[in-house]
Amino acid sequence: MAEDLVVAQGSKEEQYHALIPQIAALISLETDLVANLGNIAAALKEQFNWFWVGFYLVQKDELVLAPFQGTIACTRIKKGKGVCGSSWVQKQTLIVPDVEQFPGHIACSSQSRSEIVVPIIRENEVVGVLDIDSEKLDQFDLTDQVYLEKIVALIDLS
Ligand code: SME
Repeated sequence: MAEDLVVAQGSKEEQYHALIPQIAALISLETDLVANLGNIAAALKEQFNWFWVGFYLVQKDELVLAPFQGTIACTRIKKGKGVCGSSWVQKQTLIVPDVEQFPGHIACSSQSRSEIVVPIIRENEVVGVLDIDSEKLDQFDLTDQVYLEKIVALIDLS
């Protein structure tokens, strides 16, 4: 694989269109989950320069911090708690335009203002989430949801 990510310019759709085949190629030859989650987080961070991009994986009744890019973060989130735990329970992507308006939001960083959490679902069970934070309000929309759901679908958790 190429060592350098080609960082695309243009609309958000154009950026995802350029990024997704690169992520697919990046993880296709590697079977190690930590390696692949690390590279996906890095590729998303490099393309979009969001404040925080990372994964939490389900362990029993908690989400546990997994590979990420950004500032230090909460290590464990109970099922149903925060945006991440709510996405787990609801089995759906949650877009939060203003984290201060989300009841129970867990502030791992005071700099986070908006957030999207995409559940990773296998055999109808949530096995983890992709969590992305921005230091700007209202940074995530349906376009992000559509493409980030495609990205998490690429992850091989077997
Ligand atoms: N804000 C998240 C916690 C994880 S950090 O943002 C990395 C939440 O409310 O679940």
